[in-house]
Amino acid sequence: METFGKLPSGEEVKIFTLTNEAGMEARITTYGGIVVSLEVPDRQGRLGDVVLGFDTLDGYLKGHPYFGAIVGRYGNRIGGAQFTLDGVTYKLAANNGPNHLHGGIEGFDKKNWKVEAADGSSLTLGYVSPDGEEGYPGTLRTRVTYTVTPDNGLRIDYEATTDKPTVVNLTNHSYFNLKDAGATPILDHEIMINADRFTPVDETLIPTGELRPVEGTPFDFREPHKIGERIDADDEQIRFGGGYDHNFVLNRTGEGLELAARVYEPATGRVLEVLTTEPGVQFYTGNFLDGTLEGKGGIRYQKRAAFCLETQHFPDSPNKPQFPSVVLRPGETYRTTTVYRFSVKK
Ligand code: GLA
Repeated sequence: METFGKLPSGEEVKIFTLTNEAGMEARITTYGGIVVSLEVPDRQGRLGDVVLGFDTLDGYLKGHPYFGAIVGRYGNRIGGAQFTLDGVTYKLAANNGPNHLHGGIEGFDKKNWKVEAADGSSLTLGYVSPDGEEGYPGTLRTRVTYTVTPDNGLRIDYEATTDKPTVVNLTNHSYFNLKDAGATPILDHEIMINADRFTPVDETLIPTGELRPVEGTPFDFREPHKIGERIDADDEQIRFGGGYDHNFVLNRTGEGLELAARVYEPATGRVLEVLTTEPGVQFYTGNFLDGTLEGKGGIRYQKRAAFCLETQHFPDSPNKPQFPSVVLRPGETYRTTTVYRFSVKK
């Protein structure tokens, strides 16, 4: 554990280094629970960083699009920035056009989390979100555990309880580039997404409610395709997202950890597999990056310098009764797990 920096309030922000015997290394800060760096081997066994971010706390404090952060209370969008639960309407910040995005103005990505436990390979962070914070009902007691596993996985276990009925949808917003940590675009990475359907959106990126088959669309990644192959296709959904920025409905057989996606980077041989207990994953291709942010090692992050695989319940679920429920009630415990597992293909 080291000091990463200080908040304007003077509060200290810490950073932890988690490792395994195989040499994988994750650096995670208490600020936003952000994964600052993630070093994994390439096919020659050389370690390299595969996530975007900043060298210093200051970089994060200046503002950024959720690099590596824990996102909550509600990862992704809530349409019209409001929802009704048990007959009561809750108004949230409209921080993304007319919609609410990633928990609001000061979401979980901007909180300095408490350290609840730490050892060489794992870190448990806690945050208690007060009743009414960002407009959400209920005191939400949240705990997130990061573990670097022996088989080169970064495992993330999320847990939450509430004292009033509320909604919750936690995720991690790491931006991956398996080749060069964001120096060049991810268009040559090949991705498989284990989904027969996705949730098409309107022009403000709110799901229409339809679960549309991917068959015959640029969203069919059931067999691997280069990310760049159809990213500029003449397709309304691609246009709305400015590329991929969509939730996929994962094919699931049960409740446990199941494969959501697999990404292969041919130059380094690196493979990322995403396993999750969640029903969906947001595949986002860094369409809003525009070269203005200067990250680790002075790299300017250009458009599509990274991709995100944000495991989640579907966007706007609080207003879509037909989607899997995101309601958490007193006495229940919210629990989800996602693993980002790395390997190489020879
Ligand atoms: C998510 C959203 C995107 C964008 C990024 C952050 O992935 O779906 O539209 O807001 O976060 O820039």
